[in-house]
Amino acid sequence: MLAARKQGNIGSIFANSFKGELPPQYIHLKKEISPKDPSLIQNAWQRLESAFEKEAPHIKALGPKVIPQVNYQDILNGEFPSNMKDEIRKRGCVVVRGVVPADVAKGYKQQVLDYIAAHPGQIPGFPEHDQQVWELYWSKAQVEARSHPHFVQTTTALNKLWHAQEDSMVDLETNLTYCDRLRIRKPNDESFVLREHLDGGSTERWEDSCYRKCYTDILAGQWEKHDAFDATYRLDAKMQLHDAPGGCEMFRTFQGWLALSSANSGCGSIRLCPLVKETTAAIIMRPLLQDILQTSSMGGAYPGTQIDIDPVLLPQVTDICVSVPDIYPGDAVFWHCDLVHAVDPKCKQSTDSSVFYIPATPLCNINTSYIQRQRETFRLGLTPPDFPGNNAEKDFDDRAKPEDLSKLGKLGMGFERIEPKHKLTKGAQAAIDKYNHVLNLD
Ligand SMILES: [Fe+2]
Repeated sequence: MLAARKQGNIGSIFANSFKGELPPQYIHLKKEISPKDPSLIQNAWQRLESAFEKEAPHIKALGPKVIPQVNYQDILNGEFPSNMKDEIRKRGCVVVRGVVPADVAKGYKQQVLDYIAAHPGQIPGFPEHDQQVWELYWSKAQVEARSHPHFVQTTTALNKLWHAQEDSMVDLETNLTYCDRLRIRKPNDESFVLREHLDGGSTERWEDSCYRKCYTDILAGQWEKHDAFDATYRLDAKMQLHDAPGGCEMFRTFQGWLALSSANSGCGSIRLCPLVKETTAAIIMRPLLQDILQTSSMGGAYPGTQIDIDPVLLPQVTDICVSVPDIYPGDAVFWHCDLVHAVDPKCKQSTDSSVFYIPATPLCNINTSYIQRQRETFRLGLTPPDFPGNNAEKDFDDRAKPEDLSKLGKLGMGFERIEPKHKLTKGAQAAIDKYNHVLNLD
């Protein structure tokens, strides 16, 4: 059965935000997951504060330059250059230059503008009175961009920064397609503002026993051992225990967007906190610190929304947030699923700041099951399962249809059988078999 979410727009997730006192179950949860010896967390926190003190001046001195940058041409055989991999892992983010040629990216934007103009008053967006984040998923330009060979090559390289065990059911060499919306942010806009936050669920990171396993070392007071690129427990993590509107049900190794316009640094673009292990450790340990341990506070995380990073509770994290460098059409920005990010308060440039949101989503069981539902929405022109059920494009003759998909598009969208072209782990083979079976591609 198709999921039917309520109508809405990208603002729905904020409207849902409950910011009162959390129920006592969270006091019990914190007791259950804290180490027996409270000094383990307190000592770990002190070491973490020292790490931030050491790293922060460097990040502030470099500003946007601290974010790793790679030219698309340097991604060879689905791999980032070996001298960049550790830096991308440390920062948890990367700008990839020229993923598609600039004229192709600009062409995508024009196609979308034409698509919007062809259906006046029929497409919801945010904010409602001056739409900029459009509830659009199936324009031909979006569908084409998601399976552009260079984009697929890039997302595969991002997935391969991760690792899993031999029997983990994931194929990091195959990227599936997650269909998200787009933004055409107008000059001087101040409505689409997001302060520092984390997506991919909220209190689920502590509540769900599998999701929590991703942070075992942090919760044991050994944050230095935390491996943000181990996919093992991400594969069964429940990121949506509270049905957050707009929350993503797919496992994204990295969130990301493809730029359709220029976006000057700090002028209406994205900001990132480029230290993934340390910021994750801070967020996960924060509710367990003595000052709030006996309360139900989860350190700024609330069920059913994203995690807002409270600058009072986590100043170390918000303090290191930097703007991405100047971005040009065809560039893409990617950030790890646990990386704190924010949107500049104002679009301070004379031209629009426009992107297609497209993450990296490897082949694994939860992603296969989403693709199965997403494929059906694509066939019918409905809104994809994760998003507000506006179904605005249902009757648009000029939307993309399955027959418009390229070979790569068919593979990522569940329309074509996946034949492995490389030596697989046992788990990867099982994940592919399951994909082919669930999607009736046997
Ligand atoms: Fe976000």
